[in-house]
Parts: sequence; structure tokens; C-alpha cells
Amino acid sequence: MQIINEISDLREIRRTWQSSAKVIAFVPTMGNLHQGHLNLVREAKKQADIVVVSIFVNPMQFGPDEDLDAYPKTLESDSRLLDDLGIDVLFMPSANDIYARGLEQQTFVEVPGLSYMICGASRPGHFRGVATIVCKLFNMVQPNLAFFGEKDFQQLQVIKAMVTDFSMNLKVFGVTTTREDDGLAMSSRNHYLESKERKLAPTLYKKMHELVDEIQAGRRDFSRLTQEYKLQLAELGFNPDYLEIRNVETLLQPGHEDQHLVLLAAAFLGKTRLIDNLQIRL
Ligand code: PAF
Repeated sequence: MQIINEISDLREIRRTWQSSAKVIAFVPTMGNLHQGHLNLVREAKKQADIVVVSIFVNPMQFGPDEDLDAYPKTLESDSRLLDDLGIDVLFMPSANDIYARGLEQQTFVEVPGLSYMICGASRPGHFRGVATIVCKLFNMVQPNLAFFGEKDFQQLQVIKAMVTDFSMNLKVFGVTTTREDDGLAMSSRNHYLESKERKLAPTLYKKMHELVDEIQAGRRDFSRLTQEYKLQLAELGFNPDYLEIRNVETLLQPGHEDQHLVLLAAAFLGKTRLIDNLQIRL
């Protein structure tokens, strides 16, 4: 595994792959790798000849009161895990290199609509930051395939929309959420949970299943249903941000004809914001 920090060095090695017909897969991350990330890499390895992983904690996607400074950094163990998996390149650029003209001056990419709803409404500017960094990294790595976790479901839809809108020559794959044995979706932010909160955390996913069971049993009053479950979550000790049932692709409110939906949830436990989702086929 080669560790590359400079964009110019990445471009250099990218040029050496140019002439061969090798398939290049890319897995962008912010580090602090867990099994969820490693499963993205395993999936990438199955489908490509060359796998590039990036670690970059992207300041542009954090709000002013969010956890940019506290975001866990475990570069040594991350690089060991990636080396063990046999990736080809670990790209770890600096913020100065990535945002060479400064964050304020940075040209941005924003997918309208999708970026403003649900998570985007709670975290203004977040998806602009995500789309911008992913676009920049795609320009640097120039992958044929790119892999993202389905856990960040709205992020995945934003990136797919950007790739379509800019006619980018690559295929985006969503990989099923990796869960702990008790059902909690793996996330770097789970480390923030105190032990009492950690015990309660999987209840979010259990409650989401109960809600979906009610839909499968015939309930269609989605707005009342999500309201009921938000109250239940609050009684259990969560501070629910949203619980939304949407069309799985557009993330718009579902119409009567929609058969494939997704339940999207975000809730705080103490200071930790958990997100999760569950697809629903009617
Ligand atoms: O999902 C993440 O870890 C980040 O949002 C991503 C896609 C690496 C962009 O910074």
C-alpha cells in the first residue's frame, strides 16, 4: 500500500494506471475506520483491480457548532487495517492542499432540493460540503467506481444526483449498512456514546422496525405514525430530530403509487446524533 499526501503525487501515480485497462475503485472516508468502512473496501476490491481509499476530515461539511475538532483521528490503526486489506493507495491530503484558496473562496457544488431537506434542513450547508469534497476527490482520483455506505442514505442520493447531473464517468455503489450485534448501525460517532446511552442506542433501530411492521400491516397515515414514534423515542430518552417516510430515490413525500419507500431517522442521545434508515417495499 502506498501512502500519498500530495495531490500532485496522486496525479502522478494515476497517470501510470492510465494506459492499462484496470478498473479503479475509490472509497472516500473521514477515517476512524470501523467494519462498515472495511466492508466498503471489501466490496470495492471485489469489483476493481486497483482500490484507492482517502482519509480526509472535511471541514466544509461541519457546521459551526458541530464536532470537527473532536472528530476521532486514528490514522495509525486506520492505515494498518487498510494495508491488511491490501488496498493500493491510501490518500491523506492536508486541508491546505485541498482548500488551497481557503474555505471561504472555495467554489462549491450543491445539489438543490435533495441537499435542503431532512438532514440538510437540520445541518444547513452539510451536503454542499459533502458534494464539493466528493467532486474534488473524484477529480483527483478519477475512479471508475465509487463506494459509499447506505447508512448515510441521503448523502448517497446527493452524490448519485451530482454524478448524474455532471455526467461524471463513474458508477456509484451503495453498500448495505454494517451493524453491531445488537443492531446499532456502525458509525465513528458511536464512540461519543456514554455507556448508558450505548445500551439504549439500538432501540432506535428496533423502534424503526416496529414502525415499518405497522406499515406492512396496512397503516398509511404516515405523518401520524411518525409522530407517534417520535413521542415514543422521546419517552425512551432520545431527542428525535426527524423520522420521515420518503420515496427511496427522490426522498420526496411518497405518493399513493410509490411502492419503494425509506424510513429515515435521526435522534440525539445526549450529545451524540445517531442516524439510520430502513427501506420499505409495499
Ligand atoms: O461519509 C463520509 O465519511 C463523508 O461524508 C465523505 C463521503 C467521506 C465526504 O467527506
